[in-house]
Amino acid sequence: MTENSEDLELAAKIIADGGLVAFPTETVYGLGANALDPDAVARIYEVKQRPSDNPSIVHISEKNQIEPLTVRVTTEMRILMDRFWPGPLTMIALSSDLVPTVTRGGQPTVGIRLPESRTARELIRKSGCPVAAPSANISGRPSPTTAQDVFDDLNGEIHAIIDGGPCSVGIESTVIDMTGDIPMILRPGIITKEDFEEALGREILTDPMLNVKPELSGVNCKKPKSPGQKYRHYAPKAKMIIFEGEPDDVRSAIDEERMEREVMGQKVKTLIFESDERKAARDFFAELREADRNHVDVILAAALPEKGIGFSVMNRMLKSAGYNIRKV
Ligand code: TXA
Ligand code: MG
Repeated sequence: MTENSEDLELAAKIIADGGLVAFPTETVYGLGANALDPDAVARIYEVKQRPSDNPSIVHISEKNQIEPLTVRVTTEMRILMDRFWPGPLTMIALSSDLVPTVTRGGQPTVGIRLPESRTARELIRKSGCPVAAPSANISGRPSPTTAQDVFDDLNGEIHAIIDGGPCSVGIESTVIDMTGDIPMILRPGIITKEDFEEALGREILTDPMLNVKPELSGVNCKKPKSPGQKYRHYAPKAKMIIFEGEPDDVRSAIDEERMEREVMGQKVKTLIFESDERKAARDFFAELREADRNHVDVILAAALPEKGIGFSVMNRMLKSAGYNIRKV
C-alpha cells in the first residue's frame, strides 16, 4: 500500500477491524494492531514469534491520548512530551486498566509513543484507537527500515504493509522509564541522556545493564527492567565481529582479517562508519539486512565511540554481534 489517504483509510479500517498492518515510522517499521483489542495484539506476538512477556509500545496520534492510558501524567512527563513529541521517544508510565494485559506483556506499566512520521500519525488517527506496534520483524532479526524488510520477514502473515520508503532515524525510539524517582533510560536512541538532562534540568539514570555483555556483569543476573533486553536481538545470519581500538589500528586489523577470510573463499562485508553518528544509526540495520540478502559469511565492524548517539548504535551493534569483540 502507498501513503496516500485512500490507502491509509483502508489500512486504518483493517486495524479497527482487528487486523495487522505494518507501517513506517521515523525510527523503524512497526507492526500495528488495535492496542485495546487483546486478540489482535496476541496475533502480533504470534506472527513475530515474540515472547509474550515482552510488552508492546502503544502509539498515539495526539498528546492528550496519553491520559486514558495512564493513571497519572507527571510534570516531568509533560516536559518530555512537550519537548520531544512527536518524535522517537517512548515513555514508560503506570498503566490504566484500559490497556489489556497482553499489550503490556503482563507489566503494571505501559510504553507510550507519539511518532513523528506523518503517515504513522495519520494511520493512528484514522484507526480511531491507540495502536500497539513492536518493530515489524521476526523476533531476533534486525529491525526493518524498509517495506521490503517487512515483506521478507512477514509476507503472508499480515494484512497489509504501507510503503513509506526508508526510515530516517533507523534505530528504535529511546525508551525512558518515568515511574521511578529518577527517570531511567531503558533503551538508548537518538534522543540521548544529555538531551533529557537538558530538558529536565537534572541528572537522570541509564540502565546499568546497557552495552554490557550479559554474563560479565553482576547486575545482569537481576531481572531486566525492560523485558526486551533479555532476548538475543538484531542478529544477521552472518557471523559478526566488532573491532575496538584506535581508528587506524581498527582499519588495518579489519583489512587484514578481510583478506585472510577472502583467501579462504568467504564473503566478507566491512562496516566502518565515519564520525557521522546519525548516518550510522540510519544505515545500521539496513546494512545488516543487505549482508543477509547478499549471503555474506562474516561482517567485520568498527566500534563507534560509546557516547551520545554512538552509545545507542553500539547498543544494537553489540547485540547483533552477540558481544563478539576483538580489541586491537
Ligand atoms: O521506535 C520504536 O520504538 C519502534 C517503532 C515501531 O515505534 N517500536 C519498537 O517496538 O521498537 P519493540 O516492541 O520492538 O520494542 C519495544 C521495547 C522493548 O525492548 C520492550 O521491552 C520495551 O520497549 N517496553 C515496552 N513497554 C515496556 C514497559 N511497559 N516496560 C518496560 N519496557 C517496555
Ligand atoms: Mg523490536
